[in-house]
Amino acid sequence: MGTEQTFSIIKPNAVKKNVMGAIIEQFEKSGLKIAAAKLTVLTKSKCEEFYAEHKARPFFGELVSFMTSGPVMLMVLSGNNAVAKNREIMGATDPAKAAPGTIRKLFGDTMGENAVHGSDSPASAAREIALFFEKTEIVNR
Ligand code: RTP
Ligand code: MG
Repeated sequence: MGTEQTFSIIKPNAVKKNVMGAIIEQFEKSGLKIAAAKLTVLTKSKCEEFYAEHKARPFFGELVSFMTSGPVMLMVLSGNNAVAKNREIMGATDPAKAAPGTIRKLFGDTMGENAVHGSDSPASAAREIALFFEKTEIVNR
C-alpha cells in the first residue's frame, strides 16, 4: 500500500481538555505525518456541508452544535495506508466500546464527544480535505 492522505479533526472536547499534543503523539507514533494543520472554529454552514451524509440522522443537530462549539484542529495526515491506519488507532465511534490504547478510549468522553474524526475511505478523505484545505496548504511528506 502506497502513501495516502486522510483527513483528521481533533474535536472541541479534546481541544478543551488540552490534549492536542497527546493525540498528535499517537498519530506520529503510528507513523502518520502531519501534512497540513489549521486550528479554527467551524462555521455552521461548513460543518453541515462536512456532515451532509448524516443530515437525516436524529443526532445531526446535536452533532453540528457540538462541532461548532469551540476550536477544532483540522489536519491532513499522510502515510502508508493512512485512511485505515488512522481509523485503527482512533478506535470505535463510541469511546466505551473502543479498544484499550486507542485515541477514543484515551481521550473520548461520549459517543458524540469522541475526541477525533477520521475519514472512512480514500474517496471521503479527498472530499473532506478539499473542503478545508487548498492544495498549496498541503506539504509533500
Ligand atoms: P467520524 O465520522 O467522526 O470519524 O466518526 P465515525 O465515522 O466513527 O462515525 P459516524 O457514523 O460517521 O458518525 C459521525 C459522528 O457523529 C456522532 N454520532 N453520534 N448520538 C449518536 O448516536 C451518534 N452517532 C454518531 C459521533 O460523534 C460520530 O463521530
Ligand atoms: Mg464517519
